[in-house]
Amino acid sequence: SAPITVPARGLVLLVGASGSGKSTFARNHFRPTEIVSSDVCRGLVADDENDQAATADAFDLLHHLVGIRLRRGLLTVVDATNVQRAARASLVALARDHDVLVDAIVFDLPDEVAVERNRIRADRTFGPQVITRQVRELRRSMKGIKKEGFRRVHVLRDVAQADGAAIIREK
Ligand code: CTP
Ligand code: MG
Repeated sequence: SAPITVPARGLVLLVGASGSGKSTFARNHFRPTEIVSSDVCRGLVADDENDQAATADAFDLLHHLVGIRLRRGLLTVVDATNVQRAARASLVALARDHDVLVDAIVFDLPDEVAVERNRIRADRTFGPQVITRQVRELRRSMKGIKKEGFRRVHVLRDVAQADGAAIIREK
């Protein structure tokens, strides 16, 4: 399939349920310093990447980091589920504040992929109902996501598309 083009100095939101492969994808296509991860931020503010009670502080830090990078003209990839419209909206607004483009890369995979992957994961403690809720939120998001202010919304519909994707940074 066609390569995914991203704005060289802009923002990229990864969008997908836990287990959909966002962090793996980010590692394969972007430099470690280009990736701002909600889990890493949670770890930094709580010593525990799974501490859901630290979510507000973690996203405060995430937004702060993203804002600084965009101001400095650095490509920035947000590795968070971003399945809620409000979560995406605040990041789209941040890009707009910094006059940079923002793309979304959506992991709209078959439901069972994320559930099955998380079942065998040691680094995730929550149950399948959490994944199911996130998948539902993602599905609900798909209809209107193109009107949320993204320059482009790239949708990966199956594992082969996600694993085979190529990224091109625009000038
Ligand atoms: N995985 C896989 N094949 C892929 C992508 C991921 O087998 N193409 C596996 C990873 O090795 C990992 C699990 O699936 O054990 C979840 O992948 P990850 O990239 O960590 O998913 P995320 O979307 O980042 O999940 P989370 O939101 O929970 O961080
Ligand atoms: Mg991850």
